Amino acid sequence: MTSQFGVMRAPQSIVFGNGQRRALGQAVARLGKRTLVCTDQRFAASTEMAEMLADLAACGVEARLFSGTLAELPASSIDECVESCGNFRPDVVVGVGGGSCMDMAKLVSLLLTHGGPLDRFYGEFKVPGPIIPVVAIPTTAGTGSEATPVAVLGDSKRDLKVGISSPYLIPHTAICDAELTLTCPPGLTALSGADALTHAIEAYTAVRHPVSAGLSQERVFVGKNLFSDQHALAAIKAIFEYLPRAMADGSDLEARGMLMFASLSAGLAFGTAGTAAAHAIQYPVGALTHTAHGLGVACLLPYVMAYNAGAVTPELAAIGTAIGCKGDDPVELAMGAIRRTRSLCEDIGIPRTLADLGLPEEKLGWVSEQSMLSARLINNNPRKLGVDDVAHIVRNAHAGVH
Ligand SMILES: NC(=O)c1ccc[n+]([C@@H]2O[C@H](COP(=O)([O-])OP(=O)(O)OC[C@H]3O[C@@H](n4cnc5c(N)ncnc54)[C@H](O)[C@@H]3O)[C@@H](O)[C@H]2O)c1
Ligand SMILES: [Fe+2]
Repeated sequence: MTSQFGVMRAPQSIVFGNGQRRALGQAVARLGKRTLVCTDQRFAASTEMAEMLADLAACGVEARLFSGTLAELPASSIDECVESCGNFRPDVVVGVGGGSCMDMAKLVSLLLTHGGPLDRFYGEFKVPGPIIPVVAIPTTAGTGSEATPVAVLGDSKRDLKVGISSPYLIPHTAICDAELTLTCPPGLTALSGADALTHAIEAYTAVRHPVSAGLSQERVFVGKNLFSDQHALAAIKAIFEYLPRAMADGSDLEARGMLMFASLSAGLAFGTAGTAAAHAIQYPVGALTHTAHGLGVACLLPYVMAYNAGAVTPELAAIGTAIGCKGDDPVELAMGAIRRTRSLCEDIGIPRTLADLGLPEEKLGWVSEQSMLSARLINNNPRKLGVDDVAHIVRNAHAGVH
């Protein structure tokens, strides 16, 4: 019998549904009188933003808008936000946009509460206590950051992006309104949906750690568990059904809603279970190719699943069954899950190989070595990974060998 172990960490409140962005004013007013709203130039110029600011004012909340968030969140844009808005002393920080804007809200709240520099929080469990409450509102169906204990940033002093992981970073409130994703062009829909799929599959196939009293207290990411499994499978099912629909017709609100549900569920899953090899390898690949996170992780995903298959056959078989593969031979079902994942990624335009993503062959060694630095992700992989094993995955993913 596998151990019946579970950890659930989530926002205090998750509000989901079309039009629910209009709950923002009342949700913030319950938490304080002054709010800093972090977004980017695109969303700042939208009518939805103007309506949300009017709603905040109508609820008696004074709002300061920061619209300088840059994609992939370079540290310079975080400094700029703190410098220009820190003296405003917000009671609540709102992040509205893709993962970059939500992560901005988490990190600005962290800095305003505990002071910098940010690098003292890099890693796990380094945040000393609660932060100013964050309200997160996604406009992509991808990162799940509205529900996760993670924020990712680009530190110009380092080659790779860095993460800060702490349960204190989980937003107080998540407001998920799929109407905000209707403007996502197909390329963004694809790469953010593929990021969510990778979160869900890596969480569902994550390692199971030996259960001890310390497991939930010493690790942010505790590995595969009862609760993460539920969220991960729900996300996988929804993405296979609805991502092709949203790609075919971006105005399909039912599909947009189910993708929002999927990315949130995937966030709840990987926020406790953790992700693994595809995420570890994407960091150096992204640094070299300057390609979006979602493209890199999804390009790697089928190769990582194939490498792990022998160690997680029952899990991959369960995924296969969930997405409609037929039969009762676990190995066949597991292979079916990998095949369908590969063809979904191809259908939505994810590059088939790391070469297609623009990674030069002479960098494969460097990528393998750098991947090993993400020890947390490497150790979360269900099949043991040494640098030679990573090199094997990287070579296959570069040459397109399945
Ligand atoms: N915190 C987490 O748990 C977590 C998880 C995965 C990834 N991330 C991070 O999130 C970031 C990526 O986030 P993302 O993929 O959501 O993209 P993003 O926030 O970086 O935005 C990418 C681009 O899409 C645009 N955009 C966003 N919403 C749009 C919409 N509705 N319509 C049209 N354009 C829109 C933005 O303006 C921007 O130009 C990366 O920095 C990644 O490392 C964080
Ligand atoms: Fe991701």
